[in-house]
Amino acid sequence: MKKGKRVLVIGSGGREHALAWALARAAEVEIVYVAPGNGGTSWPPFPGDRELQPRAPARSVPIPPDDLQALIAFAREQAIDLTVVGPEAPLARGIVDAFQAAGLRIFGPTRAAARIETSKAFAKALMRACSVPTPDYAVFHNLEEARAYLRAHPGPVVVKASGLAGGKGAFVCESAEEAEEALYRLMGERVFGEAGDTVIIEERLYGSELSLLALSDGRTAMPLLPARDHKRLMDGDRGPNTGGMGAYAPVPEVGPEAIEQAVRQILMPVLDAMARQGTPFVGVLYAGLMWTASGPFVLEFNARFGDPEAQAILPLLETDLLGALEACLAGRLEDLNLRWRPGACVTVVLASPGYPGSVPEGLPISGLDDAAAQEGVLIFHAGTRWEGTRLVTAGGRVLSVSAIGPDLGEAAARAYAAVERIHFEGMCFRRDIGRASVRSL
Ligand code: AMP
Ligand code: GLY
Repeated sequence: MKKGKRVLVIGSGGREHALAWALARAAEVEIVYVAPGNGGTSWPPFPGDRELQPRAPARSVPIPPDDLQALIAFAREQAIDLTVVGPEAPLARGIVDAFQAAGLRIFGPTRAAARIETSKAFAKALMRACSVPTPDYAVFHNLEEARAYLRAHPGPVVVKASGLAGGKGAFVCESAEEAEEALYRLMGERVFGEAGDTVIIEERLYGSELSLLALSDGRTAMPLLPARDHKRLMDGDRGPNTGGMGAYAPVPEVGPEAIEQAVRQILMPVLDAMARQGTPFVGVLYAGLMWTASGPFVLEFNARFGDPEAQAILPLLETDLLGALEACLAGRLEDLNLRWRPGACVTVVLASPGYPGSVPEGLPISGLDDAAAQEGVLIFHAGTRWEGTRLVTAGGRVLSVSAIGPDLGEAAARAYAAVERIHFEGMCFRRDIGRASVRSL
């Protein structure tokens, strides 16, 4: 009998748990390792074919995602067939280049291609060069010049660190004073270190936000279901920005024509330009869009799956994820036809008290088995760990509770019915994920 495939997922969040879950459902997969994983990324094999159950086993491996040499050694020792990168930090360190140089198969963009996320200045210049709609902007390396620009250009702006800032580097400013303060924090106080030494000042746009993720083999863009993230901490999009408090997919008001328009005006020109520069983008290209009265504009690109978007998109994917990722590596994406379950998926993030600031750890978590037994529900761990036989909190975002249902309303009802069964001290979550009225594009 032919041996099954051995897969390694890099990362430790809800996105990586969802990736491991989706890969463990693929018929060919023998085992999924997750480095370093979390309290939810080890499970036994589940024989049989139960709805929403992974078939192959998974195991957490305690290797940090930035220890490229240890990851390469592990992939060699374990004869890993494919490594899948979750977060941006290892991409920025060149994990894909290092694996490729070692002759190992890995899904994700090279360090040069990941610049679309790791340098907003690079992404903006690329978009300008290929006429991709994005807010007007200027780039600064010097605080005084940036201040002078603000004074000469009154009007609503967004101030952004060019480098990686864990999703917290964009300041949407209500006034000139706020914009000056944001500049000072980035360039004067250097709150994000060198990530803020280059700053973008960008025109503020108004509209409806959308996350459009696409698989790419370097030439073709294969869009996934459109998703909506909820970055603010509190209901009604109030409070500070976070890594993401919930998501849903698909987005009812985004039809096939809107997706086709975004692929034609945004994703394809960017992929073509990257290929022409000699840095083709292979991986997941994530466009953070603002859909305005005059169409879609790019607020940012990411070079990976979104978190928590992945936890809302992947449960709806019927096509085997392993096969889809392999098609990207083989340059055969054109031949792939992605199939999706009908209905919708809603993901609610459960966060520790104090998030997105500093949080306590070690709070016992209860009710997960009962929650997971609810119809259509999948629980993806993030900041969790085991202390003996007790599962406890170990980070800001603790769990993602996803539920699929025949429509958005039912999916949300199922997700919240599961959330009600889970408890840890001071648990925070939004109550309006997938429940706000549908916004028009
Ligand atoms: P970014 O990290 O660039 O995606 O920005 C984070 C969040 O800030 C986005 O999800 C938007 O909610 C907001 N944002 C960023 N750029 C703009 C813009 N030009 N106009 C309005 N809101 C923006
Ligand atoms: N959900 C936003 C991100 O993954 O960057």
